[in-house]
Amino acid sequence: MNNFTFLNPVRVHFGKGQVEKLAEELKDYNKILLTYGGGSIKKNGVYDDVMKALDGKEVFELSGITPNPKTDKVYEGIKICKENNIDFILAVGGGSTLDCSKAIAMGSKTDEDFWDYFFEQKNKPESALPLGTVITMAGTGSEMDDSCVISNVERKKKYGYGNKLLYPVFSIIDPEYTYSLPQYQLISGSCDMFSHIMEEYFSEPDYKNTTDNISEALMKTVIENIRIALKNPKDYQARSNLMWTSTLAINGLTACGKASDWLSHSLEHTLSAYFDVAHGMGLAVVHPNYLKFVYKNHLEKFKRFAVNVWNIDPEGKSDEELSLAGIEALQDFFKEIGAPTTLRELNIPQEKIREMAEHTRVYPTTYSNLSVDDIETIYNNAY
Ligand code: NZQ
Ligand code: ZN
Repeated sequence: MNNFTFLNPVRVHFGKGQVEKLAEELKDYNKILLTYGGGSIKKNGVYDDVMKALDGKEVFELSGITPNPKTDKVYEGIKICKENNIDFILAVGGGSTLDCSKAIAMGSKTDEDFWDYFFEQKNKPESALPLGTVITMAGTGSEMDDSCVISNVERKKKYGYGNKLLYPVFSIIDPEYTYSLPQYQLISGSCDMFSHIMEEYFSEPDYKNTTDNISEALMKTVIENIRIALKNPKDYQARSNLMWTSTLAINGLTACGKASDWLSHSLEHTLSAYFDVAHGMGLAVVHPNYLKFVYKNHLEKFKRFAVNVWNIDPEGKSDEELSLAGIEALQDFFKEIGAPTTLRELNIPQEKIREMAEHTRVYPTTYSNLSVDDIETIYNNAY
């Protein structure tokens, strides 16, 4: 394997009723910014659980954080933090709420414009406000990683940013909190976690290694458990397996010793930046099409994917046929669980494809070195 250093400092409280750990986690903080989205936490009772733990603290609220969180909410949160000397941010919701809160955490500690300074110019924060999370949706893994993804509507850009200061201090992961999730979001989150695993799995090195073996087990866990959760949304074991898989898929474990290509995410972020597409649904469309574009140079790995993840019988198939069968099984799986597999289904106008290709942030990876024309081809193939 490649050399690596592994550190993940997030304290995870996983399971039913773990919100009871919140009061202890917050005991040293007094001025809390509570962040959340469009109100799901008020309907499913999570807000009430959290407020109990915040009893006696000075609580400021930032609500209305949208999916594909935008710069406006980050600016609003930074203002609240600066004006009120907030000492801790508690993010309660899906990945969008968590990501917006991470951007607020670093933006509150500088006088620079957070977007230009961090997201465009890639400067490193010297400090950030501490942050804790109560995650209510499986998918992004933001609860245990150091990244956030923010959309700049005016500039039609959706960029990710990572820094170790953005790791949450703790995360509460209660699978029961996901029971109220609309089916659309359950599907989207599952495609997202699957894609995270593949971003690492389909990167070099490709010889047999522990990390790829772990990734295969995680992919099989998603396949098995999303099917159960779709039939029975209150199946606790299925929800637990999905949640923990989504956390492990991006907390560094599946990146150990791997190059980490992450190109499909760049291709998807453009879709979200232009058309506010649900992230996981965009990935269900672009990721198989990206793989179809690159598989011919990595047949050994794609054969392994077909056999080990999708149980495809290699008998009588050429290397290329077997590899392609694996990618098609992936696409069929996304279709089966109700995800889109074409840009058309996402209502993306074909005439925008060239412009989107020109706006996509790409870089050479171990599997590809895409030109704008290549990206255009991938989008067109996905149409
Ligand atoms: O806003 P509310 O009312 O809370 O409703 C949300 C939202 O409408 C709803 N929801 C979440 N939990 C719920 C629930 N509804 C009922 N019951 C619950 N328990 O679901 C909708 C989608 O929420 P959102 O937070 O947008 O979804 P997700 O967790 O998929 O986050 C997507 C964002 O994360 C970014 C994506 O790009 C996208 O912007 N990502 C973040 C990553 C990271 N930090 O490392 C990596 C990912 O690759 C991804 O890019
Ligand atoms: Zn993702």
